[in-house]
Amino acid sequence: MTRETWATRVGFVLAAVGSAVGLGNVWRFPWVTAENGGSAFLLVYLFVVLVVGVPGLVGEFVVGRRAKRNPVGALRDLSGSRAWTAVGGVSVVTALVLLSFYSVVGGWIIRYFVESALALAGGPLPYAANPGAYFGGVSTGVDALAYHLLFLALTGAVVLGGVRRGIELGTTVMMPVVFALLVALAAWAATQPGATAGYAFYLSFDLATLRTNVFSVLAPAAGQALFTLSLGAGTMITYASYLGEDRSLPVDAGTIALLNTLVGVLAGLVVFPLLFSLGVDPGSPGPGALFVSIAGAFVRLPAGTLVASVFFGVVALAALSSSISMLELPVAVLVDEIGLDRRRAVALSMSVFAVTGAAAALDASVFELFAVTLVDRLLTAGLAVFLLFVGWVLGRDALAEFRAGAGPLAARLATPWLYVVGVVLPLFLVFTLLTGVGLDARVGFWPTVTLAVGIVLALFLAVRSPRSVL
Ligand code: PHE
Repeated sequence: MTRETWATRVGFVLAAVGSAVGLGNVWRFPWVTAENGGSAFLLVYLFVVLVVGVPGLVGEFVVGRRAKRNPVGALRDLSGSRAWTAVGGVSVVTALVLLSFYSVVGGWIIRYFVESALALAGGPLPYAANPGAYFGGVSTGVDALAYHLLFLALTGAVVLGGVRRGIELGTTVMMPVVFALLVALAAWAATQPGATAGYAFYLSFDLATLRTNVFSVLAPAAGQALFTLSLGAGTMITYASYLGEDRSLPVDAGTIALLNTLVGVLAGLVVFPLLFSLGVDPGSPGPGALFVSIAGAFVRLPAGTLVASVFFGVVALAALSSSISMLELPVAVLVDEIGLDRRRAVALSMSVFAVTGAAAALDASVFELFAVTLVDRLLTAGLAVFLLFVGWVLGRDALAEFRAGAGPLAARLATPWLYVVGVVLPLFLVFTLLTGVGLDARVGFWPTVTLAVGIVLALFLAVRSPRSVL
């Protein structure tokens, strides 16, 4: 059977934007920003999106389009080495960690959407009276489990349709809706009294705090940037594996990063003015922030129930267009490598996710382990090794793949790009990982830099030596 491809270039770009735009932009971004000092964090985050995100996206695209396979098969076919196949296998673990908590949060969103929509028909909003206590009651336990399964089922339904009739069709409908409704919500939020205070908090770039704590925000900022661009998990490798030959990967990567950032900024223009217009403290950090503060805010606004329904509806669509990319990864592995038909592959992957997600839904410490402790590290380490692969295993082939379909201007960027992804970015990402475990604070900045260089050098040598054990 021939492997499916995207029907159109726009379809691929929208699918990738759909993967990128999601809970990362709306749910995760405000609390991670608040936890890490607001505007200083924002600057570092935008820097990483531009400097690491765009070339990194091209890196994953190059691997996927070259191999026309899922991450495991791609790394195996392109390297011929077992060790690299195993590295590809890590992406399946990352997808597992991701979707297990993502689906729980997606479930919360669906629940809030359903309840807001039901309240539209009359009757009170159940989460209105005491949002904190309400969220505490439904965020873990059997309730959370049921909605997690519902969200997973919706995800599975789209992926079951395949690349064109499922993912591409779904995201081409969902993304414009998400965009249009977010614009409408932002315009509505702008008319609320006190909105200007929200903009001031959100958009003031505070360089002084940045100077004092740039290293402490490096790891969370990089984690957030990779998370929001769906980088380091192999989902972008998978999506690019369904590409034909005729596209400019750098242009596509730039477009995707730009659209994702736009949606992120838009979401901020909805969330922050709303909070400030009601005098709600944006800083009650943690994964519940959105549900407690925002949900509490809606009910006090004119037409609040309607706005809440639209808001949670938009977020649910955005979450769904991301979760399908997570599910597609193991599905692609099962289809490509084991030859399962899509239906069986979806059923099998969903059963596994149902169980691991159930653990996160029933036990808050498992949720925390997946959503806070593991995910950033897996993505950062994952992207670092993917890029090392591009630079040191693909090498010239990566250059050729970069140039294929690219205009003359972009083609000239190929060589500098290869140095950036093969050397600069792995160093940066490894350094980021080390600051994340506090090494720069404990042993000093330069020893940490030296260690990062050492680790990357050791990896280079392992890759280059014929008896590579990497
Ligand atoms: N980018 C998605 C979001 O912002 C999350 C995601 C991460 C999706 C990694 C796929 C892979 O919600």
